Amino acid sequence: MKILNLGCGAKTCDKEGVTNIDWSIYLRLRKNRILRVAASMVLKGERLKYFSSLPDNIMVHNLARNIPFDSDSVDVVYHSHMLEHLDQDVASEFLREVKRVLRPGGICRIVVPDLEIAVKAYLSHISSCERSPDSAEEHDTYVAGLLEQSVRKEASSTSRQTPLRRRVENMLLGDARRRGETPQWMYDRFNLTYLLKRRLGYSHVHVQNYKTSLIKDWGDYGLDVDDQGNQYKPDSLYVEAMK
Ligand SMILES: C[S@@+](CC[C@H](N)C(=O)[O-])C[C@H]1O[C@@H](n2cnc3c(N)ncnc32)[C@H](O)[C@@H]1O
Repeated sequence: MKILNLGCGAKTCDKEGVTNIDWSIYLRLRKNRILRVAASMVLKGERLKYFSSLPDNIMVHNLARNIPFDSDSVDVVYHSHMLEHLDQDVASEFLREVKRVLRPGGICRIVVPDLEIAVKAYLSHISSCERSPDSAEEHDTYVAGLLEQSVRKEASSTSRQTPLRRRVENMLLGDARRRGETPQWMYDRFNLTYLLKRRLGYSHVHVQNYKTSLIKDWGDYGLDVDDQGNQYKPDSLYVEAMK
């Protein structure tokens, strides 16, 4: 079975038939032999560990441009926590490309942070605050659940560097938005289903969970679970659309 794991980050799959694709700055540095050596000397701590541990089985490609596969050639296209990082118009074009490369009957499995879960958690904490005013102490945690990522200016890894390094990195690489770290839109089961069905013309759209899928033996690919078999990205929405 031919499967694309788009915007894979470090969550790749080695199984036969799977192509992992991403376009992070780390991967682009690793692609060039000189920059790879330079980066290994400049990066420190957690970042060096991440850079060195990135798997080699990743195709480096900017998916906002296109998906480098023939039309009707792929059985499954999977992407997790990637769609929300694309501007809405880019996201629509990207999903059109996904449909182009899928064979008829092929499945697109989309995982995104679930806006509904975040909003329900926030509203439920409002109720707790009404019942017990002491709960207000931690209420900002719930506001952060909705807003922190979108309003954050500085990329999270840069914010942990020395002041000089922060200045240089922000100048060279830009803020969190320019680096694609912040979400550009949020999805729930209604707007994502509408987008897939009405705007992109997918025939069957189903909400799934991390263990259910219409894809044959999906659990064997291990992309929605961690090493212990637990849900890899809690508070996610799982939607599958068939071409
Ligand atoms: C939040 S991470 C999710 C990584 C992984 N799928 C997971 O669930 O852990 C988003 C990933 O999407 C990738 N990405 C964002 N825009 C991309 C683009 N235009 N082309 C390829 N990859 C992209 C980023 O490099 C990053 O690795």
